[in-house]
Amino acid sequence: MQARIQQARQLRGEIAVPGDKSISHRALILGAVAEGRTVVHGLSPAADCASTIRSLQALGLEIALPEKNTAVVNGKGLRGLAESADVLDAGNSGTTTRLLAGLLAGQPFFTVITGDDSLRSRPVDRIVKPLAQMGATILGRREGRFLPLAIRGGNLKPIRYSLPVASAQVKSCILLAGMYAEGDTVVEELEPTRDHTERMLKAMDVPLKQKGKHITVRGGWAPQAANIVVPGDASSAAFFLVAAATVPNSAVTVTNVGINPTRIGFISTLKEMGAELQMENERLENGEPVADITCRTSSLRGITLEGDIIPSLVDELPIIAVAATQANGAMIVRNAAELRVKESDRIDAIVTELSRLGAKIEATPDGFVVEGPTPLRGAGCQSYRDHRIAMSLAVAGLVAKGDTVVDDAECVDISFPGFFDLLESVRRGV
Ligand code: S3P
Repeated sequence: MQARIQQARQLRGEIAVPGDKSISHRALILGAVAEGRTVVHGLSPAADCASTIRSLQALGLEIALPEKNTAVVNGKGLRGLAESADVLDAGNSGTTTRLLAGLLAGQPFFTVITGDDSLRSRPVDRIVKPLAQMGATILGRREGRFLPLAIRGGNLKPIRYSLPVASAQVKSCILLAGMYAEGDTVVEELEPTRDHTERMLKAMDVPLKQKGKHITVRGGWAPQAANIVVPGDASSAAFFLVAAATVPNSAVTVTNVGINPTRIGFISTLKEMGAELQMENERLENGEPVADITCRTSSLRGITLEGDIIPSLVDELPIIAVAATQANGAMIVRNAAELRVKESDRIDAIVTELSRLGAKIEATPDGFVVEGPTPLRGAGCQSYRDHRIAMSLAVAGLVAKGDTVVDDAECVDISFPGFFDLLESVRRGV
């Protein structure tokens, strides 16, 4: 599907975005090995989460979807999963792959996980190494670097592991495997990454401690089923907040957004860039902070982003690049080489496609530099079948003169089904 985006005169409205994708994966996976019935409210409708549901069903789970965005998971306990008769297909989802691999490393049976073209070209050696150290038998294509992965788990021993890359998926993989190892598994993370797994393990009564850079999980304790309310996905809200900041005469409120500090580096970044952004009704739900966020048309300036903040906004860097095209001065992003191994090489993708629209943007090995502001002009562009690239280009299309056409735009369903309808709903005037 091609999406045609016309320049917008103004954006107005109050909207809600779908449930958080990261938290939804974790609720399903922990619910699967919990004692009792876990009900997940506000489940993300993302295709990635459907990949997790299908994989868990193949492992013997009963997961009911009684109404829109609600899942009921009949937990099997730590030892109740069953060998799948077929290969698990994680589709486009890195989180499904890396989190499930941690769980499967603890199972005394054989599993093969694969995925689509994009997922099969993304690194998994980052999980193969620690899981092998814990005692799992785990093999992957090209010496364990790529999917498909074959895992024969069971009999894990605890390890102390310092993460070589800032990755919540790798951290979570080891913590999930740690539930199956006798004793304490310790993960050291040098830069903080999203901590949804830690919060949910605690909320489900698994013994977990966080001290400085160290996270310790004690093996042998099954999570206890819970009622989980998933907040709106901050990464999805980011597209609308940047759209409001960059389109003239705009004010958009996104309600019920998760504002976990490990996820909202883009909020402090947008504020530092000069965005008129307000958070209201801050509250806590299931150990996760939530707020309503409003952004208005703003006069933006470029800043430098590097170091510890990068993991807290890694998924938002493409949309921040769009904001930077409308900001005064240079926006410099460094230490973000991880962008090259996301659903696409997001550095090349965003630089190539925003250049087509007239942006002054250049790639660096670990980031990009944008010189703003530049008037954008509509053009045909490629999504690289990467949901966040497609949505970033759609937002760029709102500020570009004329029509912008984004190819393979259906990929937005990976994280945000309904994105284009919601975008139309805030548009006032063409
Ligand atoms: C995620 C972690 C991040 C992020 C991804 C979701 C998660 O990946 O980019 O969209 O749910 O844990 P990495 O762990 O590879 O940084």
